[in-house]
Amino acid sequence: MEIISNPTLVEIKKAAKALKDGHLVAFPTETVYGLGADAANEKAVSRIYSVKGRPTDHPLIVHISSINQLDKWAVDIPEYAIKLAEEFWPGPMTLILKRSKIAKDFITGGQDNVGVRVPAHPVAFGLLSEFEKLGGQGIAAPSANRFGAISPTTSAAVNDELNAHSGANDLVLDGGHSSVGIESSIIECITQTPGILRLGAVTEEMINTTIGGLNNTINYKSEIKAPGLLTSHYSPKAKVLINITAKKGEGFIALSNVPTPIGAVRLGAPKNIKQFARDLYSSLRKGDNQGLNSISVILPVGTGLAEAIKDRVIKASAN
Ligand code: TXA
Ligand code: MG
Repeated sequence: MEIISNPTLVEIKKAAKALKDGHLVAFPTETVYGLGADAANEKAVSRIYSVKGRPTDHPLIVHISSINQLDKWAVDIPEYAIKLAEEFWPGPMTLILKRSKIAKDFITGGQDNVGVRVPAHPVAFGLLSEFEKLGGQGIAAPSANRFGAISPTTSAAVNDELNAHSGANDLVLDGGHSSVGIESSIIECITQTPGILRLGAVTEEMINTTIGGLNNTINYKSEIKAPGLLTSHYSPKAKVLINITAKKGEGFIALSNVPTPIGAVRLGAPKNIKQFARDLYSSLRKGDNQGLNSISVILPVGTGLAEAIKDRVIKASAN
């Protein structure tokens, strides 16, 4: 795929035009890189599924430039969802809402709900705004990895994942390393009280502080199907071991205050939990690129983002 580094406004406009013409454009967001297609173009969206190798009943998140575009995609939006959007957008949070007429089955996997997010990244914002200027409604974008693999947090990782499967006119916009590093929190806003379908950097505590009465917790069992949230997902090639001391020649990821076991290959030494989330996927990828057979991750302790990290590492270890 052609990677465009530090894209200029002219290049972003070209990328928006490519989307409008039905091509795919991978782009940076603060969470992970997304593989974008015109969310109103069935043919373009179907290419997302073939390039990713993803089952077609898995719904896609629609990305928009601002909360002002939300009414296009969703109807009967609960008051609390507006509050969440006002508080956390642009940001690492996806809301699942009742879909409008433009959210077709090929976006929602045939469900009556649609996932919507306003990402917080200048390149994503530029692309979305330029696309909307061309008459675009929104950009459908899953994480830009092959199905079942870990999400990419750099443009090079997108290229490694998808180059062999993409088309000649598909692009990757580079925007540096994603700052959050794990996928958005997904909040189901269909029922009277919301529930968290996927943990992320917008935490249960933050949601509770904003709207109160989030009566569901991490193990929330929703009526809403989120087929992508399978147990064995987000996996590197190496076997991931949790809270086990790495042996000689094995990969090791832990907070910087945890010493490297003798002979182990240190892949990550984040200074705090935020850095842990940011670097997790690139550290796991580093292990794969070095051909390591196993990577041991010592989980950070705590709630909020630490729980989200734990969720991803458990998923990464599940195969
Ligand atoms: O941070 C993110 O959310 C990234 C960036 C690119 O925005 N996107 C992302 O998309 O992680 P994806 O497709 O890899 O994961 C989205 C998850 C899927 O597991 C899907 O099942 C769920 O969100 N989802 C999307 N729309 C849904 C809907 N209408 N109802 C239930 N689940 C939905
Ligand atoms: Mg994904």
